[in-house]
Amino acid sequence: MDAGVLSFAAGSALGFVLVTIIVVFISRQGNGGLDIMAFVDMLMGFERFLIQFYSVKGHWITDNSIHKSKLNLSKAMEAVSKPVNMMLKSEFCTYYKAVMPCGMSYCIKKLNWSCKAFQLFNPERFVQELMVLGKLNNSNIMIPLAYTLTARSAYVVYKNPQHGTLFDLLHTSCDNVLKWEERYSIAVGIARGLAFLHGCSTSTGPIILLHLSTKSILMESLSKPLIGDFDLGKVIKPSKTMETISAVAGSVGYIPPEYACTIKVTPSGNVYSFGIVMLELLTGRPAISEGTNLAELALTRTQSIHHDKCKEILDCRLLSDASSGVRDQMLSLLRIALGCIAVSLDERPNAESLLDMLLNVATI
Ligand SMILES: *[C@@H]1O[C@H](CO)[C@@H](O)[C@H](O)[C@H]1NC(C)=O
Ligand SMILES: *[C@@H]1O[C@H](CO)[C@@H](O)[C@H](O)[C@H]1NC(C)=O
Ligand SMILES: *[C@@H]1O[C@H](CO)[C@@H](O)[C@H](O)[C@H]1NC(C)=O
Repeated sequence: MDAGVLSFAAGSALGFVLVTIIVVFISRQGNGGLDIMAFVDMLMGFERFLIQFYSVKGHWITDNSIHKSKLNLSKAMEAVSKPVNMMLKSEFCTYYKAVMPCGMSYCIKKLNWSCKAFQLFNPERFVQELMVLGKLNNSNIMIPLAYTLTARSAYVVYKNPQHGTLFDLLHTSCDNVLKWEERYSIAVGIARGLAFLHGCSTSTGPIILLHLSTKSILMESLSKPLIGDFDLGKVIKPSKTMETISAVAGSVGYIPPEYACTIKVTPSGNVYSFGIVMLELLTGRPAISEGTNLAELALTRTQSIHHDKCKEILDCRLLSDASSGVRDQMLSLLRIALGCIAVSLDERPNAESLLDMLLNVATI
């Protein structure tokens, strides 16, 4: 059976079950009227049941024949129904892992419709944008392969990046400290992906990320980052309510100061967030830790651009056996990162020149 097809028979059976449930539920309410919340809760349980026992209608985005032959969407949806397969949870979505019988591993992003970010948006547009994103061709970006929509959630399937998030690699694994060469190549990879997205001339224009943080970067290898979650950036129409936008744009610690007074996500706002990611790579500290904001710390510690003073903030686990060439490279990247988090938008580089600057550092 084709993985993506919900058969007519199953569909009719489900319709019948659903109607029965509604009838039973309403009759049970007796004289008390319909409790909508309890009803919604029940439907949620019902949806889980559906996913588990029926193949839900899936749709291909990719034309890639390897994925089309290896990825079984029904199997992927089965995996999502089991909590043990949950890999991580970000502000907007939950990621699940699904391993196919052939051994190929996929990652399924579940977006919650009732989440604030989606209250403003319609499924047709979401699908249109997914199709645009599916056609992108850049090795530092997570490209959607297939999707499924249900009443409460959207599920988008990607190839599984084996090493989790950059946040986990940098901040939670103590034994394996990322080497400087890896961190440098991660910075270049993210800049490459960002320059690609900002330079896109898709039918919907350049792609601007709604939020960028070490938690939205997934690692294919220790030195190859993939930018994920970018589709959210396009979902929001900035013409709608102001509060909703500011509530969802950006993650704490990565939010550019100008977002406090505007509602538009911008390319230079993305560059700011990238600056914070670079600071995390350089210092080994999270964007926010114990109430300390990394951006503020970097700006105060580096006010005098005196070499020795700057070094205080760099990750001491890297400095101990770094050659002077590596130290210089780290300081050059620190200067670039500080440029990215400049308060004035004019002082921040654009993503393309950012990439050039990073690549030029390699030849010092
Ligand atoms: C896909 O997975 C479902 C559920 O495990 C299974 O019934 C079906 O046979 C699989 N399809 C293919 C083509 O392997
Ligand atoms: C979806 O989001 C709503 C509102 O943010 C939340 O109450 C609900 O628990 C979420 N559901 C899941 C399955 O994450
Ligand atoms: C994607 O890009 C790579 C290298 O940049 C190229 O070799 C490949 O043909 C491209 N694929 C498509 C489908 O455009």
